[in-house]
Amino acid sequence: MAKTVLACLNVSKRYESRSVLENVCLTLNSGERLALTGPSGSGKTTLLNCLGGIDRPDEGKIMLNGDNLCEMSGDSLAQLRRTRIGNIFQFFHLLPTLSVRENVEFPLQLLGIPRDERRALSSKLLERVAVAHRIDAHPSRLSGGEMQRVAIARALIHKPQLLLADEPTGNLDSQNGANILALLQELTEETGTALLLVTHSEEATKICHRVLRMRDGKLLERPDHGGQPAATPPAALEDRSPAPQGL
Ligand SMILES: Nc1ncnc2c1ncn2[C@@H]1O[C@H](COP(=O)(O)OP(=O)(O)O)[C@@H](O)[C@H]1O
Ligand SMILES: [Mg+2]
Repeated sequence: MAKTVLACLNVSKRYESRSVLENVCLTLNSGERLALTGPSGSGKTTLLNCLGGIDRPDEGKIMLNGDNLCEMSGDSLAQLRRTRIGNIFQFFHLLPTLSVRENVEFPLQLLGIPRDERRALSSKLLERVAVAHRIDAHPSRLSGGEMQRVAIARALIHKPQLLLADEPTGNLDSQNGANILALLQELTEETGTALLLVTHSEEATKICHRVLRMRDGKLLERPDHGGQPAATPPAALEDRSPAPQGL
């Protein structure tokens, strides 16, 4: 049976008096890729930030492999983000003063991983995402596609259980977008990392096993996802239970 990595139970959030998330429930299993679509302003980024421990909901539970993020102190949440979550953003968010290698190694540096070990891991992963030839370049010298490859390497270098991507192809042309999606699919398949992918792109939903849609802070199973997903769901996902137990 597939392992539930993330379970979000009745999560609600308000900004001042306005409800931005309303009773959001979702589960994500290891190896599963879930697409989240919805119009601008529907709450996708707010939800992702709550699931990633960057923001806190007002109500509900967010369980990451048995730990409730909503009950954690700020320090524990920071440690959880560093060790168990990877983030990829639309605008890459690479550190401009660091080289490609230094950007990718940055999460490991925060964890106090020794230099030689960092080097070995970053070299291998940069090779894998096909930007090893730009290892000493600074982000301003990279193309959009290269920047996103570096950002993917940075998000995966510490082997997170959960990868959160907020419109990662939204700032790329279609060819680079397609390459990035293929890379995300391959890498998450290799590592079994669960992926939650916020996207406006129909192409991006095709690499996912499931598509959910948000509207006005509420999550809807997308009824119009009639076609077969391109991705074959991990076999064990068929045994997905609606309410996760024992978290
Ligand atoms: N820090 C904030 N303060 C007040 N309102 C916010 C804040 N962040 C987001 N919002 C509002 O919450 C709603 C959802 O935003 P967001 O999660 O960014 O949506 P999406 O990612 O789907 O475009 C929007 O109406 C937005 O204006
Ligand atoms: Mg957004």
